[in-house]
Amino acid sequence: MFTLQLSETHEMIRDTARQFAREEVAPSSIERDKAGVFPTDIVKKMGELGFMGMMIDPQWGGSGLDAMSYVLAMEEISAVDASVGVVMSVNNSLVCWGIDTYGTDAQKERWLKPLATGEIHGAFCLSEPEAGSDATSQHTTAEKVDGGWILNGTKNWITNGTTASTYLVMAQTNRELRHKGISCFIIDRNTPGFEPGLKEDKLGIRSSDTCSIGLTNVFVPDDQVLGGVGTGFKIAMESLNGGRIGIAAQALGIAKGAFEAALVYSTQRKAFGKPIADLQAIQMKIADMSTRLEAARLLVYKAAILKDQHKNYIKAAAQAKLLASQTAVHCALEAIQVHGGYGYVREYLVERYLRDAKITEIYEGTSEIQHIVIARELLKELA
Ligand code: CAA
Repeated sequence: MFTLQLSETHEMIRDTARQFAREEVAPSSIERDKAGVFPTDIVKKMGELGFMGMMIDPQWGGSGLDAMSYVLAMEEISAVDASVGVVMSVNNSLVCWGIDTYGTDAQKERWLKPLATGEIHGAFCLSEPEAGSDATSQHTTAEKVDGGWILNGTKNWITNGTTASTYLVMAQTNRELRHKGISCFIIDRNTPGFEPGLKEDKLGIRSSDTCSIGLTNVFVPDDQVLGGVGTGFKIAMESLNGGRIGIAAQALGIAKGAFEAALVYSTQRKAFGKPIADLQAIQMKIADMSTRLEAARLLVYKAAILKDQHKNYIKAAAQAKLLASQTAVHCALEAIQVHGGYGYVREYLVERYLRDAKITEIYEGTSEIQHIVIARELLKELA
């Protein structure tokens, strides 16, 4: 069981994130989306506010907060701009978490501190051209040489790929051991042979940067292996369990933004001599969006609370991501419907909610993968 109670600290963090999102993120979000421009200044400010390493101990440059604080901030920021949300989520969940949990003190000093303060940001490199959902099927290789490893391969769909300074890269160090032969390497952007490609031209979250990365004879010293040789897949899966809470919160934010836009518009737009909010067809949409949103919010908070209580949150995180991402797509579609023709043009924000929502059903494990994760956890509980 879990109890849902926002503390004063949680309320303060939510309010700070809401104010930051409305005052600093919102004004330029439409332009950034149109031009596909990375939110460099905003990411810097998020670092100053402590949003880039929220769950990291202050000893290592973080804010020392809990997962609940993280989802509250993610929701508020993503309600205004999901592109900014994903930069924050990847840095917190997939990069800082792994180094914090598996890194040596020397690794934390060198990489975690600047990542958690937001001085730099990071990227997580698991997916490959032929290893998306089937993540154990890594083709990137790491061959042992004197003093380190030589990596070769290609990584795909890397969020923060063109702008990051530090990358966690999974590579096969022993193919015979399959996923137990995958290791995680910490790689600096300026390492010879490490080449981020061109930014992808995406449907949504257009101001976040996503690219492929080529690795050609990249030498990585032994002390840049994270968590020991052969633990890379475990690190990746555990990071993604937490990452799914972050993406669920991002999806929740998109759903909230779309819902609130539809609700306000329904009171302003008149048809048949009255606000469309007076029409039962619109009321049903609003009521349905709100109900799904609240249900998704409870699952997202539950996953965060379980994580904070150091309980198993694998199933809860997958369920939260599954429902919140479906809710984001649903609310975005319905918000467009409530806006009618205005919902279909770029001047109004709602069409962007739909474009941004779709990716939450795909990255950090597709909805199909979340079903697998949930079913496997249920069957484990039975055994
Ligand atoms: N948590 C912890 N461990 C897990 C796990 C989880 N959620 N899921 C699997 N594992 C462990 C298993 O216990 C197993 O370990 P052992 O052999 O020690 O028992 C190991 O991982 C392999 O698991 P399976 O035998 O079940 O392997 P599988 O191939 O049948 O299934 C999978 C694995 C669950 C489908 C996995 O490949 C997966 O999660 N795929 C989705 C990958 C994904 O989410 N990619 C997102 C890319 S990153 C991204 O999008 C970031 C971004 O930029 C925004």
